[in-house]
Amino acid sequence: APAPPEPDEVAINETTLNGASVHALSPRDDAVGDGEAFTNEPPRDFSVAAKREAFARAIADLDDIAPPAEVSAEEATAAVGVVRSAFDAWADRPVRERANLLIKAADLMRRDRDALSALVIRESGKPWRSADADVCEAIDFLEYYARQAVGLFDQRRLGRYIAEHNHVFHRPRGVAVVISPWNFPLAICTGMTSASLVTGNTAIVKPAEQTPRLARAMVDRLHAAGVPEDVVQLMPGRGETVGATLADDPRVALIAFTGSRQVGVELMRVAAKVTPGQHHTKRLICEMGGKNAIIVDASADPDLAVLEVRDAAFGYSGQKCSACSRVIVVGGRPSDGERFVERLIESTRALVVGDPREPSTDVGPVIDDEAAEKINAYIDIGKQEARLAYAGDVPVGLAAKVGKPFVAPHIFTEVQPEHRIAREEIFGPVLTVLQAKDIDEAIEIANASEYKLTGAIISRTPSHLAKARHRFAVGNLYLNRGSTGSLVGRQPFGGFGLSGVGEKAGGDAYLRQFVNSTVCTENA
Ligand code: NAD
Ligand code: ALA
Repeated sequence: APAPPEPDEVAINETTLNGASVHALSPRDDAVGDGEAFTNEPPRDFSVAAKREAFARAIADLDDIAPPAEVSAEEATAAVGVVRSAFDAWADRPVRERANLLIKAADLMRRDRDALSALVIRESGKPWRSADADVCEAIDFLEYYARQAVGLFDQRRLGRYIAEHNHVFHRPRGVAVVISPWNFPLAICTGMTSASLVTGNTAIVKPAEQTPRLARAMVDRLHAAGVPEDVVQLMPGRGETVGATLADDPRVALIAFTGSRQVGVELMRVAAKVTPGQHHTKRLICEMGGKNAIIVDASADPDLAVLEVRDAAFGYSGQKCSACSRVIVVGGRPSDGERFVERLIESTRALVVGDPREPSTDVGPVIDDEAAEKINAYIDIGKQEARLAYAGDVPVGLAAKVGKPFVAPHIFTEVQPEHRIAREEIFGPVLTVLQAKDIDEAIEIANASEYKLTGAIISRTPSHLAKARHRFAVGNLYLNRGSTGSLVGRQPFGGFGLSGVGEKAGGDAYLRQFVNSTVCTENA
């Protein structure tokens, strides 16, 4: 197959952000549904000097943007009324029209890619590659769900029966509330919002408190692409007040949430409530945390194992739901795996803890002081429970320069499955190393977690890979690669257990959650 074009080479008609002169975008306009197949947005190739320089310029040129003002619970309630009133007209628009607005929004994001990445770096502290990947994933969601929606809304005949026509078709649910996390601040917010809109729902977006500017940037581009202002509204504010009020509103038909287990489980309770006069149950899509394990056995390619574990554990400072926080080394004697751990430590030592605006940085800051405190508290717990085998350093003055706190990579060995650091989601650059006598015990330890999000095995033993396929209980299982970095359409993403409820994001079943279906039988 021919290589996908570099984003810079994609033909995009002249566009502006005010919406008035956003032209029809060829060649994608007629591609939705029946034309061009979906392809993932290629990451920036930073080995090309011009691309590197343009990216650095975008970071340097980024203006100080004030965050959007936080709204009150009353304003959020009023916004539900606004998007509710817009529902019928939006739901009646042909799906192709809605899909094409997503395609336009994707093109606007593509046009502004480096500036958006710069904002991701500023607001969430992601290093270059992670920030670029966040923007690519947001574009992917728009492009992917646009195509999926057209397929979903095509009326489908069921079977062939004489004198009876059976068709299934779908209708939007109503008002969707999107409640998003800070760790994929553009991608996940865009994914849940675009899925809501393209299926004909109207939406309120309640982003994480830490990253409201990126949510603003997304909603602005949706409006500029032609999504009416009363169809999608941004309501930034505190989760406990604005988020909770929106989730509780009886006019809301659907809550699309990604975030912590604690809030997700609370939202399940809230969503289950039926207020008198409410004629529907609320659909909750709920993606939560992880405590992901990578199993490394004695047959593993050590170079691969070290790099995949290291990057999955410390990429974006371990603040990915998919991050590896447990590595389970298979070997009968305590000395087994020592060599792997030594190499892992040396490789981790080579990571550059630095300013995320610098291209050489591997590990940037953590999101805020509260997160740093929580991670440091777990490091203290780890020192009681196990052996601290490696603690990285944070250069003096770095936190002040960047304006965010840092926690360097930490590795604990002699960890037991019952230890808190082996069971609880730390959401920071803290890796625990556990030992298992054989592959069966390794899978048992991996599965002991309440979370079932991602997992991986690095092995050259076919029977071990087969056992992992069969028994490793996670939503996304990786063989001979790390546990992070799923791509829309290629690795639809999501877990079960206490990691989530619902279909995988970026997969072909995801949009069904946003619609009601009707089977219509005509006696012909
Ligand atoms: P969080 O649960 O603290 O916040 C998520 C969102 O919920 C924010 O917008 C917040 O304001 C809102 N919120 C908080 N309390 C609320 C309430 N009572 N009612 C309604 N809304 C409320 O999570 P976070 O710290 O932003 O994100 C990190 C967590 O997200 C981690 O646990 C991570 O594993 C998880 N996560 C999961 C996935 C996945 O796909 N499974 C992806 C990314 C992040
Ligand atoms: N999709 C993200 C990953 O796989 C969460 O890392």
